[in-house]
Amino acid sequence: MGLKHIAVITSGGDSPGMNSAVRGVVRTAIGLDVLVTGYERGYEGILADQGAPMTSRSVAGVLNLGGTILRSARSSEFRTREGRAKAADNLRRAGIQGLVIIGGDGSITGGCMLQDEHGIACIGVPASIDNDIPGTDFSIGFDTAVNTAVEAMDKLRDTAYSHERIFVVEVMGRSNGFIALESALAAGAEAVLVPEIPYDLVDICRQLREGHERGKKSCIIVVAEGAARGQDVGGFISRSTGFETRCVTLGHLQRGGRPTAFDRVLALRLGAFAAELLIAGHSNEMSAVQGDELVAVPLDMVLTGAKQMDEQRLALVQHMAR
Ligand code: F6P
Repeated sequence: MGLKHIAVITSGGDSPGMNSAVRGVVRTAIGLDVLVTGYERGYEGILADQGAPMTSRSVAGVLNLGGTILRSARSSEFRTREGRAKAADNLRRAGIQGLVIIGGDGSITGGCMLQDEHGIACIGVPASIDNDIPGTDFSIGFDTAVNTAVEAMDKLRDTAYSHERIFVVEVMGRSNGFIALESALAAGAEAVLVPEIPYDLVDICRQLREGHERGKKSCIIVVAEGAARGQDVGGFISRSTGFETRCVTLGHLQRGGRPTAFDRVLALRLGAFAAELLIAGHSNEMSAVQGDELVAVPLDMVLTGAKQMDEQRLALVQHMAR
């Protein structure tokens, strides 16, 4: 017997494509004659008991919108046992049997506790520009964030070349360097610093000097925010090489903007699959993509796993910087 009433939230840091995932959830559920309630501001909305019914029209015209129409939050109350009991109570009183959580690993695994402590079925949809969620090749928003970073680096390359300068570009990635690595490859950066792998700034300066002797007119160094502060890296480079250096921090620009076609389609598929899983009676799983296949990954794996940095890709940045 399938579920008859589910809810959907977007939680944690927003990411472009979240709206497409909400659309996937809502229209799949409606197609299966299942009621959908949307809560704004993630778990905070559930705690405030502010759910509203969603219809096909609620998700019309949202595919091209960045951010999340359901808004998002990081809830400290939900992290407490009492908070989760209140959330479960509110969901039950609203007649909701299961919840789709669109967000990062912290938000998704919060759902694990709702199931374990209160028996509310939960399915996660991976959405984070950082692409650091174990069990899925891609999370929603990563492709758009990388394209935003690359567009910025292409522009910086123009002015870097004109003035024969070095640009240090700090990108997001609190604890991982996936955006940094991918954008460095696509923009032809001369070096990339990621938190997962030790780096040697003295050696990078040596390579910059050698490049200059070979006639290089501009350099871009990409720094993941979790690896170092871009300003510090820029200061070190300019002091050790004497080259004119500028630093740009892209910050939250990478979190906004129209989602790419890749993110829209990915999100739609992951959202639709999550609704199907939940309605069919699954719980404590994440709707994920591996290769081109949609798979249901146990949340235990999301809790305990870690995504590895591709060292071959990392080496390619250096090989290409000749
Ligand atoms: O969405 C992930 C992320 O972008 C991290 O890379 C970054 O450190 C963090 O969110 C910052 O988020 P906020 O400013 O919302 O706390």
